[in-house]
Amino acid sequence: MELLEAIRSRRTTNGPFQPVPVKPEHQRLLIEAASRAPSHFNSQPWRFILIEDETIRRRIAEIGGQTMTQLMEEGKFFQRYRKYFRFNQAELEARRDGILIDQLPAPLRPFIRQVFSDKGLFLMNKLGVPRTLGEDNTKLVASSPLILAVLLTKDEYKPAELSGYYCLLSMGMAVENIWLTCGDLGMGIQFVSTPMEVPEAWDQIKSILHVPDDLELMALYRLGYLPENQKRPRIDWTSSQRKRMSQLVYRDVISPETRWPEDLTS
Ligand SMILES: Cc1cc2nc3c(=O)[nH]c(=O)nc-3n(C[C@H](O)[C@H](O)[C@H](O)COP(=O)(O)O)c2cc1C
Repeated sequence: MELLEAIRSRRTTNGPFQPVPVKPEHQRLLIEAASRAPSHFNSQPWRFILIEDETIRRRIAEIGGQTMTQLMEEGKFFQRYRKYFRFNQAELEARRDGILIDQLPAPLRPFIRQVFSDKGLFLMNKLGVPRTLGEDNTKLVASSPLILAVLLTKDEYKPAELSGYYCLLSMGMAVENIWLTCGDLGMGIQFVSTPMEVPEAWDQIKSILHVPDDLELMALYRLGYLPENQKRPRIDWTSSQRKRMSQLVYRDVISPETRWPEDLTS
């Protein structure tokens, strides 16, 4: 795949993968691509766990689903992320960012806007929506043939210090390399982020994975080969919309006059 084509077609996969293991040579390529990323002083502070064991994947999947249910039931999910929800094309077009909520399971449609109020949340909980979505998520993660854990070495990752900041930049670049390589290999990848948002759940995952004290568990992803026919999932957390160049770029200094001209926008 051409590099630009790979960059342009990179997506988050939020549907199921083919129920087949990821070939060892592909696993190797993913990690090789990650390790080719730049890092401060070539420190390569990242470490990875490739998780194929069915019992471990299931335990992680259960924690993923439970934390999604918990965060939604408590309203934390909606409080934290309401600013990213776009409910129609016009809203999306105005900002060109966030997630377009344009297809929802029928029972959810009447309250998606009200979900941000106490009353809406009460109704959603009464209907068991967080539970259904959590269970969907558990199935999705458990049926993913590969889970990838990304870690940083604590001798480099010191959040209050410069090396901590550099580690985050380096890790982001390593993960992007993995993401782009997935595209080349006919694979998909998705963040599994809800366990990270519940500290006790994150501790459980660390203990399941035997993460030692000198490593910090940073992120989890599920991966696999893309099916031939990718149906859009019931709730699609992805959006291919991107900001206009004029919303992103200035020339030389920042001022309204130095914005990238609209007519050069592709
Ligand atoms: C730090 C970070 C956390 C994310 N968390 C999630 C997540 O929990 N679930 C998910 O499906 N996607 C997650 N994403 C993916 C974004 O939602 C996605 O990149 C964005 O909506 C654009 O869609 P695209 O990746 O298909 O271009 C995350 C991305 C980043 C960089």
